[in-house]
Amino acid sequence: MRVFLIGFMGSGKTTIGKPLAAKLGYRFIDQDDILEERFGMTITEVFAKFGEPKFRETEHEVLNELCQLENIVVATGGGCPCFFDNMEMMNQHGISIYLKGDPKTLVHRLKDSHGTRPLIKDKTEQELIQYITDKLAERDQFYSRAKYTVQALNLKVEDIFQLLKGIKSRF
Ligand code: S3P
Repeated sequence: MRVFLIGFMGSGKTTIGKPLAAKLGYRFIDQDDILEERFGMTITEVFAKFGEPKFRETEHEVLNELCQLENIVVATGGGCPCFFDNMEMMNQHGISIYLKGDPKTLVHRLKDSHGTRPLIKDKTEQELIQYITDKLAERDQFYSRAKYTVQALNLKVEDIFQLLKGIKSRF
């Protein structure tokens, strides 16, 4: 079984994904880490040096490769579901779960770490709130294609584990 955690930056994909993988006895993969390894630089540097289109192309290639692996939990990049046919690929090859966060929660979580994320690195708190609100509205049409949606706020690993246990027999 392959589990793809999707959602906006700060929705908790990595935080939940790691213990979830451990509980399932699966391998945890952070898609951004693979991309950083592949380019040999940070995501911020990739955006600056090659631009977003090149990043998205490689992100798509990496997703394609991940779809060949077994028993994995993937924390996907926040924008990954919104490019190419990535959402369809995830749904075809695994179980996609959308960690849905509201702008207020996301801003709170991103406030201190946004320096490492190229799309939001130079934004003030006020700009960040506006950016997240706009981007969420734009991305909703993609995120909402996930097979399952869970609320990111106060999300427990156990909640997703139980959800997967119920459907695992089908995979
Ligand atoms: C992005 C989210 C980031 C990373 C890149 C672009 C986005 O991943 O892939 O900075 O477009 O939302 P996280 O969601 O893991 O921060």
